Amino acid sequence: AEHAAGTDTTGEHAPEVHEAGAGGVRSMTSLRGPSEPAPGGTTRRFALTARTATVTLSSGRRVAAWTFDGKVPGPPITAVEGDLVEVRLRNADVTSGVTIHWHGYDVPAGEDGVPGLTQDAVRPGQEFTYRFLANQVGTYWYHTHEVSDIGVRKGLYGMLVVTRRAGGPADQVSGSGSGPASDGETGRTRDGGAGTGGPAASAPGLDLTLPVHTFGGVTVLGDHDRAIERSAAPGTPVRLRLVNTDNTPHRFTLAGTPYRLVAVDGQDLNGPGELGRVGLRLPAGGRYDLAFTMPAARTVLLAVDDRTEGLRLSPQEGAGSAGVAGSAGDGAGWPELDITRYGTPAGTPFGPGSRFDRRFTLVLDRGLTFSGGRPLYAHTVNGRAFPSIPTQVVRDGELIRFTVVNRSRDTHPWHLHGHRVLVLSRDGRATSGSPLWLDTFDVRPGEVWEVAFRAANPGLWMNHCHNLAHADQGMVLHLNYE
Ligand code: C2O
Ligand code: CU
Repeated sequence: AEHAAGTDTTGEHAPEVHEAGAGGVRSMTSLRGPSEPAPGGTTRRFALTARTATVTLSSGRRVAAWTFDGKVPGPPITAVEGDLVEVRLRNADVTSGVTIHWHGYDVPAGEDGVPGLTQDAVRPGQEFTYRFLANQVGTYWYHTHEVSDIGVRKGLYGMLVVTRRAGGPADQVSGSGSGPASDGETGRTRDGGAGTGGPAASAPGLDLTLPVHTFGGVTVLGDHDRAIERSAAPGTPVRLRLVNTDNTPHRFTLAGTPYRLVAVDGQDLNGPGELGRVGLRLPAGGRYDLAFTMPAARTVLLAVDDRTEGLRLSPQEGAGSAGVAGSAGDGAGWPELDITRYGTPAGTPFGPGSRFDRRFTLVLDRGLTFSGGRPLYAHTVNGRAFPSIPTQVVRDGELIRFTVVNRSRDTHPWHLHGHRVLVLSRDGRATSGSPLWLDTFDVRPGEVWEVAFRAANPGLWMNHCHNLAHADQGMVLHLNYE
């Protein structure tokens, strides 16, 4: 009863409103998703149960976790463009409550999964059904937004991948057991499809989703704390979708083959050139899609930070370490790719020369502030910490330009709900490569980013640092359509 608004047991879009502090929740209940797919699409139904569980990593190591369906990461949610995604969330025993936020997906505000803002947290025994159209193709993820720093760290997240209607289905390997058979003893995962799939010409391609997460103190890919081993016939098109679910950036590189960074935060880049000896730095919350053609006689290595290889791709099964093209030491001194200068320019619906309806500046810092009249050492926006940061008001249809200045010594991956921004400049230097549309941009100490977006998704939205510990310590503001 107390948390009735979090319970959408009827499956109808008319949940009751929580009585206390529910101004936001009340107004969001009318901004719910559709109940039908787009023409040509289908309805994809998923049921996820949040519960505590012990998860076994590929090494056999066991970790106490908060999970969706007993797995970390949670079951992959996949859809084809135009489908209606319907996810029924139940909470079995996560006592602090759970929601699902669709990171990077511009869902209607009432589906955004922010407790206290768009819904109430789903308590044990309750449920809530989310519905939204799969109208953005690309790599996204989902995670709880209730005590999100702890909740995500403990495992309440999973992948959301939407493919083009004309394209082939994704071969999901997020470590949740939905794809290849996994040998818990060795941590080896074999790709049955590619191993038995015959000649390259008929190979459907290898499409792997690999969430990076520091879990129980160990950095894992999916649920692998040892290298994931896969094979693919030479000539097979390979796509690696990398998702950083951690609070801090991860560095990695690919050795043994040239490759391209074809999408960032789910958005395709224009004219991405071939990359060789560079390091990629993936911000907290961000996604990079890499694409390459499986080489003939090499094993391709993915080195995540300085741990040993995360993924070993062999041209055939049982190739062992023969022909290894790189090692974990590779990439240590390689220059970092500047994604604001990668790819080739293309037209955008607006740009630095546009007439903007509204501008604002966010100065990120750390220091003493006051919250509810009490002094507090916090991560601040314009000298204040949540909930004392004034709500940024916009009007539907406005073109907005804003500047984020980092005066602190920490990196702040700035994240917008419900919108993505076009990057205009970084440290006064205009972007010179592909248009870059991001939902999370990494503002490092001393940096200044200028970005722009069209306010076209009415509601009340969170805007925060995706180092979720920083968000927890005040670095959150609300964006509201007046
Ligand atoms: Cu993935 Cu509010 O965040
Ligand atoms: Cu931060």
